[in-house]
Amino acid sequence: MAVKVGIIGMGFMGRMHLAAYGQLPKALKAQVVAFADIDADKRAGRSDDAGNLGDTGFKFDVQAFKRVYECGFQLIEDPEIDLVDICVPTPDHKDLFVAAVKAGKNVLSEKPMAVKPSDVKAMVAAGRRAKGAVMIAQCIRFWPAYVLLKEYVTSKKLGKCKSLILRRQGNNALWSPWYFKAAMSGGAVYDLHVHDTDYVNFLFGKPNAVCSVGSIGGTSDRGIDHVVTNYYYSPRKVEAVTAIGAWHQHKTWPFYMGYTAVFERGTLDFDIQRPQPVMLYADDAAQEIKVAATDGWFEEIKYMVNCVARGEKPALNTIASTDISMRIVQAEVRSIKSGKVEKVK
Ligand SMILES: NC(=O)c1ccc[n+]([C@@H]2O[C@H](COP(=O)([O-])OP(=O)(O)OC[C@H]3O[C@@H](n4cnc5c(N)ncnc54)[C@H](O)[C@@H]3O)[C@@H](O)[C@H]2O)c1
Repeated sequence: MAVKVGIIGMGFMGRMHLAAYGQLPKALKAQVVAFADIDADKRAGRSDDAGNLGDTGFKFDVQAFKRVYECGFQLIEDPEIDLVDICVPTPDHKDLFVAAVKAGKNVLSEKPMAVKPSDVKAMVAAGRRAKGAVMIAQCIRFWPAYVLLKEYVTSKKLGKCKSLILRRQGNNALWSPWYFKAAMSGGAVYDLHVHDTDYVNFLFGKPNAVCSVGSIGGTSDRGIDHVVTNYYYSPRKVEAVTAIGAWHQHKTWPFYMGYTAVFERGTLDFDIQRPQPVMLYADDAAQEIKVAATDGWFEEIKYMVNCVARGEKPALNTIASTDISMRIVQAEVRSIKSGKVEKVK
């Protein structure tokens, strides 16, 4: 039987998720039966939002849905829906997530979990008690080039990972007004850089401490729009990990994400803008490594629908793990403000 999905928020990410459900393999059936959006234009199917990466021209046909709601809480009450997919701006994640979990639904909610620490606490508490499958959509854990690096780190096929540099940079032409308000988006540190913070946590676990420098504003009103963090591990699981995240590049800047991982016997390097995005430098040679032609959004949705169909809880990306990622970001913000190394609580 198909997993019946309801999407709350049909903006850039809602439409990306909708496209992903539509592309799932036939054996793994999912049907998006309803969506909710507070915007009448979206409810009428008038939308051509752009985002930072991927197909930005995806249109949707409102006639294809059984029901269209004005309010996300009404969608949560819909008895036909198995999986509630929350794609609204970040400040509204908490109330919808908690309500959907209380209603006994399976829930996928977009990243970042939340900007306010009290919202994170409420979501973690609800998520721990959830009957169904619940997951925050930290898609980099599912992105092919990053799945590959995780395999190299875990298998130690090139020896131990000695150092890692991660970089993620967007431009200042964000597509929705709420992104420019730090109280809503949290600035680049919460909205963009969180992807790499979560990935560092996925690779190496919780660091003991972080040391961050940052620049305030530039795109958002007073958020941290440029951050550089060193993550400290004791005992030393890895000698040096640095992540750079920023979204204040000029509007013509093409979205960038990438990494350089140095192992004892080689270097693995990813640059999304390069014709050969993933390169391995080892054994006196440079060689391209081909990764699957898919993306982390599609793969995370495939994974979540699989979990729901099987009645399993997601093991790859748990609420407890996202809780740690959010505590690392909070320590990064504290470190930028204090100018000191800050422990991760
Ligand atoms: N995983 C990723 O790579 C990625 C990329 C971009 C955005 N995001 C995240 O996805 C979320 C949504 O971002 P977006 O870019 O799609 O935003 P957006 O502004 O493009 O779309 C948000 C949509 O939600 C609707 N909406 C707002 N409040 C609502 C509410 N209370 N109930 C119902 N509908 C409501 C809006 O009308 C709009 O259609 C954010 O948390 C953002 O950080 C994740």
